[in-house]
Amino acid sequence: MTDSSTPEATPDSGEIAVLVDPPVTAALVDELSHLWVRVTNAGGSVGFVPPVNIDEVRPHTVSILARVIDRTDTLVALKEGAAIVAWCVLASNDSPPRHGWRTMRHVQVDPARQGGGLGGKLLAAVDHVAREELKLEALSLKVRSGTGADAFYRRHGFTEVGRLPRAVRMADDDYRDDIIMWRELS
Ligand SMILES: CC(C)(COP(=O)(O)OP(=O)(O)OC[C@H]1O[C@@H](n2cnc3c(N)ncnc32)[C@H](O)[C@@H]1OP(=O)(O)O)[C@@H](O)C(=O)NCCC(=O)NCCS
Repeated sequence: MTDSSTPEATPDSGEIAVLVDPPVTAALVDELSHLWVRVTNAGGSVGFVPPVNIDEVRPHTVSILARVIDRTDTLVALKEGAAIVAWCVLASNDSPPRHGWRTMRHVQVDPARQGGGLGGKLLAAVDHVAREELKLEALSLKVRSGTGADAFYRRHGFTEVGRLPRAVRMADDDYRDDIIMWRELS
């Protein structure tokens, strides 16, 4: 997969480029990790319970990008000027009969830019990559209950297909369901 870098002018922001599997460098690991820390500490539900620091997050970024380097998973990111402002991974299934769909993971937009349409642009870029490059038939994702983020995905065509009850322990007295969402691409 190559860096598609399709520039797109938007009225309310600078030029947005879509990156698909950009070259994995130490600088990319650091940039994604710092963004992940900022998103988490601003209250985003992306795998961690805040507060987190760069030393906790960086090893996870390295693991994620190892699967991008070997082409198992696909990184989709939005770049504005010199900065990545949104990213996610399309994680493939190891089981061959499940190669027709992937799981969107780590979906995140820079906290300073949330609510400005970048999340929608990221999902549009994912849709394009999933259909045109990966030839997928469906996408899945999991969302913590109680965050409201499921409403964002419902607006973009995902439906709830099940829940893992109390699967996420935020604190000893705060358990959340994992909401499983699904979107057919055909
Ligand atoms: C969820 C996220 C990716 C959406 O990106 P975004 O750039 O903020 O979204 P957009 O600007 O394209 O769309 C905003 C719309 O989604 C809604 N929305 C976004 N996140 C929401 C949330 N957590 N709860 C409720 N609504 C949300 C907004 O209310 C807004 O609705 P409107 O258009 O009717 O006003 C982004 O807010 C984010 O990174 N959040 C923190 C990380 C996170 O929780 N990721 C989800 C992991 S499953």
